[in-house]
Amino acid sequence: MKTYFVTGGAGFIGANFVHYMLNKYEDIKIINVDKLTYAGNLENLKGVENNPNYTFVQADICDKEAIEKIFNNNEIDYVVNFAAESHVDRSIREPEVFVKTNVLGTVNLLNIAKQYWETENGFKEGKKYLQVSTDEVYGSLGETGYFTETTPLDSHSPYSSSKAGADLMVKAYGDTFKMPINITRCSNNYGPYQFPEKLIPLIINNCLAKRDLPIYGDGMNIRDWLYVEDHCKAIDMVINKGRLGEVYNVGGHNERTNVYIVKTIIDYVSGNIDSSVTEELIKYVEDRKGHDRRYGIDPTKIREELGWEPETSFEVGIKKTIKWYLDNKQWMDNITSGQYQNYYEKMYGNN
Ligand code: NAD
Ligand code: TYD
Repeated sequence: MKTYFVTGGAGFIGANFVHYMLNKYEDIKIINVDKLTYAGNLENLKGVENNPNYTFVQADICDKEAIEKIFNNNEIDYVVNFAAESHVDRSIREPEVFVKTNVLGTVNLLNIAKQYWETENGFKEGKKYLQVSTDEVYGSLGETGYFTETTPLDSHSPYSSSKAGADLMVKAYGDTFKMPINITRCSNNYGPYQFPEKLIPLIINNCLAKRDLPIYGDGMNIRDWLYVEDHCKAIDMVINKGRLGEVYNVGGHNERTNVYIVKTIIDYVSGNIDSSVTEELIKYVEDRKGHDRRYGIDPTKIREELGWEPETSFEVGIKKTIKWYLDNKQWMDNITSGQYQNYYEKMYGNN
């Protein structure tokens, strides 16, 4: 029975990963370690709360004692590090916390895993540290070309630079100590449980509330969108089959402009839910500082080496996603009305 030490599992991708893994495998244990920042939400994990193979621990990945205690009490096989400050706009306003969690938190996890996994003859068999990273570390593309695993790191925002710093520290532990590591670099995710500060849930939520739909700059920036479950599948494959020390890019060739995304959501809502939602709600606003123009992943390596293929097309995924937010309106209301805090205190006390 393998034990996964998952960090940031109360956030968007981490929670989807916890669900995905516990649905897929009956013979694994997951310890979910999350600080529960504004982005962490235990409601995302309601479906697994009572699963005997699942444990939640509230802790900061920067906290040496708290993390060591978990390693002391459990034989950890895999660390999967999702925990991060993840929003570019926030990183422009407050970069320090991005360095603290994303870089120093990662180094703390690497040190502790090394401390528990290293023997006189190298690392124990079957252990792995997987760093969940992003294509944003590669910077921005022009109109052509794609990011491959050998594209030089050229991050621009404080968020992406903190992720690039973390990636280089993970690489350093692999290169210097021969620690068993992998890094995955995925394109923009969308799907259930995404915090409504990110483009897709923000636009869905604003459409349903008939509020302005803010588009930064000219709206022609391109992101390469991947349904979150396809990302979870890739991480599972890299943990179980990825060659040690390697980086794997994850993306499904779904490049779309921001304007296209916003209009697709408007069309769906207007055709299926509320015909008074129209493009008149779009509001072009001041551009993000240093706004990356285009991201696009070349996923050849993960496809050819591990057999990974995305299963959900953008057209299917975006409908599923809008429907999920509609069916889970209370989830969104709890976040946007601050009710989540009450829920948390009721469930776990005021700590
Ligand atoms: P998120 O913001 O939704 O969730 C982050 C989680 O980490 C939250 O539950 C938060 O409470 C927790 N956390 C933050 N600081 C912590 C700390 N110091 N200690 C412990 N827990 C802490 O983020 P997400 O969108 O789910 O992203 C998860 C990971 O995937 C991040 O590392 C991000 O860089 C990476 N990633 C995200 C995307 C995307 O499109 N969202 C794409 C590629 C890679
Ligand atoms: P976001 O979801 O913040 O992800 P990232 O910046 O990590 O790619 O933003 C996706 C794209 O949408 C990005 O080009 C910025 C743009 N955007 C808007 O135009 N309006 C918004 O309100 C937000 C949040 C983002």
